[in-house]
Amino acid sequence: MNERAPGKPGPAEGARSGIVVSVETSCDETAVAIVEDGRRIRASVVASQVAMHAATGGIVPEVAARAHLRWIVPVFEEARAAAGIDDWSIVEAVAVTNGPGLAGSLLVGINFAKTLAYVHDVPLVPVNHLEGHIYAAWLLDSGEADRPAPSFPLVALVVSGGHTFLVQMSDHLSYRLLGETVDDAAGEAFDKVGRLLGLPYPGGPAIMEAAAGAERRDVIFPRAWMGDSYDFSFSGLKTAARRSIELAAGSGRRAPAGPASEGLDAGMVAELAYGFQESVVDVLATKTGRAAERSGARCIVLGGGVAANSVLRDRIAGRAAALGIPLIVPRPGLCTDNAAMIGAAGYFRSRAGSRADLALDARPSLRLVP
Ligand code: KG4
Ligand code: ZN
Repeated sequence: MNERAPGKPGPAEGARSGIVVSVETSCDETAVAIVEDGRRIRASVVASQVAMHAATGGIVPEVAARAHLRWIVPVFEEARAAAGIDDWSIVEAVAVTNGPGLAGSLLVGINFAKTLAYVHDVPLVPVNHLEGHIYAAWLLDSGEADRPAPSFPLVALVVSGGHTFLVQMSDHLSYRLLGETVDDAAGEAFDKVGRLLGLPYPGGPAIMEAAAGAERRDVIFPRAWMGDSYDFSFSGLKTAARRSIELAAGSGRRAPAGPASEGLDAGMVAELAYGFQESVVDVLATKTGRAAERSGARCIVLGGGVAANSVLRDRIAGRAAALGIPLIVPRPGLCTDNAAMIGAAGYFRSRAGSRADLALDARPSLRLVP
């Protein structure tokens, strides 16, 4: 912190306990965690707004920001108590997501983290949400046995509701962008097609569940290969899905105001969900495997909400096995938004000397690789 009250001492020199308190409010989860050495989760609390946003079929930014304001203190208090943090002299840093995300939502977490850092005289470390999704691969649950950290060089695929990209990491905090979506994110495609199919929000888990029940598995959706590049495109797939859904519903016309899926029985919804999911998974797994092979990666890391998809996890695990390298993918609860991942990335950022002062602001369009 550069700005401090007159007479207030600086942070304890050499406070390198490895304990990071982390805060995440970029989208629709209010989350606080306590992580040790960037790996061990001492506490992780997530208050999800999913049920609230399901009523509107998506996130209303102002509603999300107000919910963060309501929940941030109780969520923090639960995490603090669970980790038994009474003495702040053992805290190395407060890490907080400063972007990308919804401005109003980010500001709630940023202001809360600033307050903690200021009151307890602990360094404030800004963390890119997308870096957090990658560093979730370093996390160990409290009871989990030690396992080796991901080794470099590695290839990481991040697939969330707002982002889809492939990066190569030669070392900690060092990224080379291999490719990214030119339009929709993979999770966004899941959510939009879920809505077209008349499935509940968010579409990702609902499509996965519906697809698992598909009897016939011969519905083929197009794949946007984007040449030999590592870029992705999912907007054409969404249009193709809409057309197939309308055709299947017997209308054969553009969707009227009502859901395109009107007239579809559950079996047909399952088959369409299966075909759509296959198309997304095929492209993601193929490009990730190819990137790992060509770059000589020593492991593949997968992160972001869509990484909770078991079909995607299995398919990429197969690619990794064929290359003789491990796939490291967090358990589903650490793929979707949480603060433990911000604590993992925040630890490595803290050790690299990243610091913010009280001027820290929300950066809604922050990129991982400028
Ligand atoms: O990372 P995340 O929690 O939030 C963002 O940073 O965007 O990702 C949310 C996205 C949503 O689009 C949701 O539909 C998708 O992750 N998702 C899934 C699954 N679980 C969540 N997509 C496919 N299969 C899943 N099982
Ligand atoms: Zn996310």
